[in-house]
Formats: sequence, structure tokens, C-alpha cells
Amino acid sequence: MNSEFSKAQAGSYAFIGGGQMATALISGLIRAGLPPRAIVVFDPDAAQQERLHASLGVDVGGRVDDRLAGAEVVVWAVKPQVLRQAVQQASAHLRAPLHISIAAGIRCVELSGWLASARVIRAMPNTSALVGASVTGLTAAPEAAAADRRVAQDVLATTGHCFWVESDERLNAVTAVSGSGPAYVFHFLEAFQAAAQAVGFDEVTARELVLKTVAGAVQQAQSGDPFGTLRERVTSRHGTTEAALAQLDAARTAQALKDAVAAACTRAEALSTEFAQQA
Ligand SMILES: NC(=O)c1ccc[n+]([C@@H]2O[C@H](COP(=O)([O-])OP(=O)(O)OC[C@H]3O[C@@H](n4cnc5c(N)ncnc54)[C@H](OP(=O)(O)O)[C@@H]3O)[C@@H](O)[C@H]2O)c1
Repeated sequence: MNSEFSKAQAGSYAFIGGGQMATALISGLIRAGLPPRAIVVFDPDAAQQERLHASLGVDVGGRVDDRLAGAEVVVWAVKPQVLRQAVQQASAHLRAPLHISIAAGIRCVELSGWLASARVIRAMPNTSALVGASVTGLTAAPEAAAADRRVAQDVLATTGHCFWVESDERLNAVTAVSGSGPAYVFHFLEAFQAAAQAVGFDEVTARELVLKTVAGAVQQAQSGDPFGTLRERVTSRHGTTEAALAQLDAARTAQALKDAVAAACTRAEALSTEFAQQA
């Protein structure tokens, strides 16, 4: 329970966009002690508003209105393509809050310019925020105060682990590793399940075997031993695991993963440049 959260006034946290990431963050904040009445969410989608109000008890609105003026923290949780327009719609109602953007690819310098504010923090959570297990990178506009960084970290930490990077460029690397990372893992799980089915297990059993095997290995890896050491320990010479790993090596899976992360990084950089040119 965060004591700062429990003292928050009505409407002091505003969300622009009430989609799945906003919902994950709002749920985290409420779990951490922020009263639902302290949160107002603006989203043009009536179904989204109804869902948020009914399930979390927060105040909701369609078009941004003067309730935004009371916000001390504004979280921008819309798609990057509509962020600039959302800022334009909101600007007449903004006082001088702390801005936290979770939109991918839009740099602090553009955000600061659009919002006419140096109080800007960017966060890159991942989809595991939905289960309170996000890995979230944060970066701040150079002029953002230490107190603003602390508040942003407190907000994002309600959905998982947070760490700081020094620039938007590094946040592109975060996007490529932990931002897109859950999809790499799901891809592996999918392929592993298919492989289990190929040796005769039905779909449900294959899924369970794969999930429990991965969960057990992740638990073991918490020991802090290097991943390579853990791998070597289960690989006896001329054994079954060695035969399997030889196939993975022949298919260059490690290099493929390296290439995948590099491609995500390049794409994140390209998106940043695209948005910067539109600014
Ligand atoms: N999903 C992830 O894993 C992930 C991870 C890191 C960062 N992000 C970032 O998080 C942001 C939100 O992602 P999401 O998956 O939650 O998106 P989402 O589910 O599409 O939610 C965005 C919501 O914002 C609404 N919206 C559109 N224009 C608006 C406006 N002008 N004012 C207020 N609300 C508006 C949308 O309504 P309509 O649908 O009617 O347009 C939608 O309900 C994105 O920028 C994304 O890059 C996502």
C-alpha cells in the first residue's frame, strides 16, 4: 500500500485512453491503494467507458473536459498514431501536470513540444502488466525533476518491475527486448507445444507439459546461475538433451533470436524517426 496514493484527491490521476494497457495500470494503482474516485479516464468508446466504470469504479468521460484540469498526473495511453491529436484536444484543459506517456516510439522531445511542458516521462511497459508482472523501462525528459521521476516510477511499479534508461534511444532497445519480449516467449511456447504434439501428446496435455516445463525452468533460473551453466547441467554427453540441442544449434536459433531483437530495435528506431518527422 502506497501512502501517497491513498491521500490522492478526486480526479488527480487522469488517463487519456482506456484500452487494455490503461486498464492494467489503473487496476495496479487501485490495488496499490489509489481510491477509484481519484482516477478519471477519457476514452471516446462508450463500451470502454462502461466497462471501466463498472469494473473499477473510476470516473469516465468521452471527450476530454474540465475534469482534466484537476489532474496532477496525466497518463497518455492511446495509440502513437493518435497521440498528437489527443494532446491537441486536451491542451485547453491541461494545467501543469506530470505527463507519463506509454505510447511506443514518440520521443520525450516531441512530447515536451506538443505539451509545452518539461514534466514528461516515457514508459515502455509490456503486456505482462495485465497480470501485474510487467517489465517496464522508463526515461525522462532531461528537465524532468527527481520528484516527477519518483511519481512516475511509483505509478508504473504498480504493474511490475521498473528500470530507468538514459535516453529515448535506449528505450528503443527496451522495446525490442522486454516490450516485444512476451511475443518471443509465446512464439517459443507455440512451437514447443507443436513439437510435443508431433511426438504424440494431445493438444491439452502438450500445453500443460510445455507450460509446467517452462515454469519450472524459469523458477530454477532464479538461482542466479548463468543460463549456460544451467543448460550444461542437464546436458549429458551423448544423451537425449544433447541430441536435441544439436538440432537447435544447427538451425541457428540463438542467431535467429539475436536477429529478431535487432530487427525490433531497428523498427522501433524507424517508428521514432517517422513520428519525429510528422511533428
Ligand atoms: N499492448 C502492449 O503490450 C503495449 C506495451 C507497451 C506500450 N503500449 C502502448 O500503450 C498504448 C495503448 O495501448 P493499448 O494496447 O492499451 O491500446 P488500445 O487498447 O487500442 O487502447 C487505446 C484506447 O484509446 C482510445 N482513444 C483513441 N483516441 C483517443 C483520444 N483522442 N482520447 C482518448 N482516448 C482515445 C481508443 O479508442 P478507439 O479504439 O475507439 O480508437 C482505445 O480505447 C499504445 O500507445 C501502445 O503503443 C502497449
